[in-house]
Amino acid sequence: MENLEQVHLQVNEVFYPTEELKKECIVQDYESMYKKSIENPDEFWSEVASELFWYQKWDKVLEWNFPYAKWFVNGKTNITYNCLDRHVENGRRNKLAFISVDEEGNEKKITYGELLERVNRLANGLKSLGLSKGDRVSIYMPNTVEAVISMLACARIGVIHSVVFAGFSEGALKIRVNDAKAKAVITATYTKRRGKKIPLLPTVLEATKDLDFVKHIIVWDRDKEIEESQQNGKIVDFENLIKSSSPVCNPEIMDAEDPLFILYTSGTTGKPKGVLHTVGGYMVNTYLTTKTVFNIKEDTVYWCTADVGWITGHSYIVYGPLANGTTSVIMEGVPVYPHPGIWWEYVEKYRVNVFYTAPTAIRMLMRFGDEIPAKYDLSSLKIIGSVGEPINPEAWLWYYKHVGKEKAKVVDTWWQTETGAHMITTLPCYPAKPGKAGKPMFGVVADVVDKQGNSLPPNTIGYLVIRKPWPSMLRTCWGEPERYEKYWKDIPGNVYNADDLAAIDEDGYIMIVGRADDVLNVAGHRIGNAEVESAIIEHPAVAEAAVIGKPNEIKGESIKAFVVLKEGYTPSPELVDEIKETVKEVLGAIAVPDEIEFVDKLPKTRSGKIMRRVLRAKELGQELGDISTLED
Ligand code: WTA
Repeated sequence: MENLEQVHLQVNEVFYPTEELKKECIVQDYESMYKKSIENPDEFWSEVASELFWYQKWDKVLEWNFPYAKWFVNGKTNITYNCLDRHVENGRRNKLAFISVDEEGNEKKITYGELLERVNRLANGLKSLGLSKGDRVSIYMPNTVEAVISMLACARIGVIHSVVFAGFSEGALKIRVNDAKAKAVITATYTKRRGKKIPLLPTVLEATKDLDFVKHIIVWDRDKEIEESQQNGKIVDFENLIKSSSPVCNPEIMDAEDPLFILYTSGTTGKPKGVLHTVGGYMVNTYLTTKTVFNIKEDTVYWCTADVGWITGHSYIVYGPLANGTTSVIMEGVPVYPHPGIWWEYVEKYRVNVFYTAPTAIRMLMRFGDEIPAKYDLSSLKIIGSVGEPINPEAWLWYYKHVGKEKAKVVDTWWQTETGAHMITTLPCYPAKPGKAGKPMFGVVADVVDKQGNSLPPNTIGYLVIRKPWPSMLRTCWGEPERYEKYWKDIPGNVYNADDLAAIDEDGYIMIVGRADDVLNVAGHRIGNAEVESAIIEHPAVAEAAVIGKPNEIKGESIKAFVVLKEGYTPSPELVDEIKETVKEVLGAIAVPDEIEFVDKLPKTRSGKIMRRVLRAKELGQELGDISTLED
């Protein structure tokens, strides 16, 4: 296969947990627990699931009908019962669930008791609008506790939520609301970013104006801007709905395999895939991974800096931490505003013990210098996590030294929207290797293979596959089962193809190299090359476009577009700006190319497929590889 090369460790040092942390670890013996999870999965998962509440126990742990899995068959539960009621009934009523902060130091604290009440009220409010089990609701909200309440209110009554990252533009939002046929959208008047108010409601109104099935737009009116008179049939006030509804709402009794949410993610075609997760398996595995990877204790203060609009927010801001009854910080804003020490200021202020962020952010903060984190007392940190893209050893070491003060344990966590929960990671109890994600999580059988499905020898790059189903795996792609089946049918041997390149070392540590398919990873955000290309083509002057990723020191990858103009148009800097603006409108700021180059034609195969690989190799001055299929 292509691109096979031997890899060598860039940093050979291994990093052990401190004696103090080691003693506190919930998982002391990874090897034996892992062994049990593989050799005796029924017993293993039954024990984990039994730590949670079920109205009715499952008959069978797994029913595997390739490539379709059912976990905890016939089990009945409700994830919000486990995230809220269970804690309130067990002495955590007054425990803080969230400290919701913004860039200006405003904070809003909410206890488990209060969170339950607000979720119940909103759930009843949704019911009063006619929503019921199986309906879809899109959520386009700032990264605040109101977003969490919205998600949980849906889950309470069996409504399937589909959160759309509030940085996406109107076009991207419309595609997602339309695909899910959402009956309602929950949004806010604006979100705050770098001290500015970014309007959200106008985007929602524009995106949904032709979508007749959207019956309600529920708006968190942050500054009470919307006058009563404007609240005609469609617009509903979020706070009024909460206030006017009953605080008691019995959870819908959900089958383990009932859908919990849809989350759209990028694939290799222009259309995003609606990854579907179900209640039982997702609940059990987010609970277990949060508990064991982050070593959650009763008094742990936890902070995941992701946005609820991505899978990391779903699993590790909302469901995993709440299932464990944790106190979390949630922040609306960016890491560098009003100053590049704002995160460390909050770590110090709230005595955060577990901090979870992305390599992009680490690399960006690194640039501001060692003296920034040095100004704060970060001694509360015990575990510092990384997610979203490969963390280069340099960033790893900086994080460990300047944030973790060579005391906190770095845990790298590899997983995907599709996997629902951590799949490969370094648990706190065993040594970490910078630049290597670590070993498989419980129940995960990972391997690195060639295109024919043959396992490769140690330190050889190949495709990362998962050989067995796991509880939090995606169940399908919404309305597109063939796209789901493709994950399992791509590579011979009935394995799940993660579409990442990786290598396993002689100790079983897995190094993730990057995506194998045409998906970009820009600042930890997954963006399909094809999505950006189709956005570019919406500009009237553009005939064709090809998009590649280029290595970027901070963002991991930057986007470069090659554009062929239509007859009669000539390249100009204005055109570059216009094309960028088009992408911003169609997809959102995160997908705007950093570079645009006008070319006369694009390299294509004889069947007309654009060879992005050739463009990339040329751009980076690499060997062109096999170009026998190139048209000319
Ligand atoms: C990449 C994010 C290296 C990978 C949770 C994967 C990583 C894609 C890591 C999924 C990591 C995620 N090391 N690469 N620790 N974590 N990735 O769906 O390419 O937004 O396939 O899920 O991010 O991105 P997604």
